[in-house]
Amino acid sequence: MNLKDQISTTKAQLLKTFEAATTEHALEEARIQFLGRNGQIAALMESLKTLSLEEKKSFGPQLNELKKVAETTYNERKAAIAKAQEQQAFAKFQHFDVTASTYQPLKSTLHPYTHIVEHVENVFMSMGYEIVDGPEAETDYYNFEALNIPADHPARDMYDTFWLDVPNMLMRTHTSPVEVHAMETKELPFAVVAPGRVYRHEATDASHDIMFLQTEGLFIGKNISMAHLFATAKAALQGIFEKKDINIRMRPGFFPFVEPGVEIDMTCPFCKHGCSVCKKTTWIEVFPAGLCHPNVLKCSGIDPEIYSGFAFGFGLTRLAMIKYGINDLRLFHSGKLQFLDQF
Ligand code: PHE
Repeated sequence: MNLKDQISTTKAQLLKTFEAATTEHALEEARIQFLGRNGQIAALMESLKTLSLEEKKSFGPQLNELKKVAETTYNERKAAIAKAQEQQAFAKFQHFDVTASTYQPLKSTLHPYTHIVEHVENVFMSMGYEIVDGPEAETDYYNFEALNIPADHPARDMYDTFWLDVPNMLMRTHTSPVEVHAMETKELPFAVVAPGRVYRHEATDASHDIMFLQTEGLFIGKNISMAHLFATAKAALQGIFEKKDINIRMRPGFFPFVEPGVEIDMTCPFCKHGCSVCKKTTWIEVFPAGLCHPNVLKCSGIDPEIYSGFAFGFGLTRLAMIKYGINDLRLFHSGKLQFLDQF
């Protein structure tokens, strides 16, 4: 085949090959075949050397023209392939429906403890109380000794205590140690409430757990009497249960750090004539309280001849159970979403 024919066949061939290349890979192979250093066009250029000057003059420009055609065709194909790819990617997005529904993310709610703590704190703050806090790992002194419960006192049996490996340290069995911290640090008179966790080494069942919430209340001033305690307990319960017609009564109770000590009952907030919550009695036992024992005041440097006070310690977990109608205390820490979702 003479060079002229070779040029025209190569041209036809390369146009066909580039046209057929629809992927980057195929196009690159075609480029190497025709435009590569050892490609067909380079070979034709090489053969030019053997020709006469006359022929060179005629075929040189033809070969250059062929190379140009190859390059332009290559560039056009390259752009066309890139465009096709872009369109393909875009087509994928076009099928992406931004309004299509996704799976439902989990709804988050506050834990019932958070609700009741906030609510109780608000009720007491509206009555002028300050919210205070205390450590959960306590010393024997704060949990017992300073509360008129010396080492050999039988009242220690009321508290199944988690003792820590550190001598004289325990997980507080009630929030009453916060009373002692408050008496040691606050200026008189003062009124505080301290919600928090307490720990008891007990077998668990629907109404007992090794950890639950209590709220301590302490009001110390001059001439504080049972009348103040009665009025405060009643107003607080009315606030907590959001009912004005709640009444209370007191029965004698015993705790070494109060004298006299009482158990407070309230009228059932759910019925008038007896229901399952009040066990058909119309009364519900709610919390113990009393006037601060003089020994307790003295122990924290307060003169019981001048000052007196009242304290109460209610089971906040129990109040939450009554308020929200929860029948098993273990649900609070079960992590069950069906339970938690309701709050
Ligand atoms: N701290 C007592 C308990 O948990 C409750 C209490 C507090 C009783 C304050 C009277 C006064 O058992």
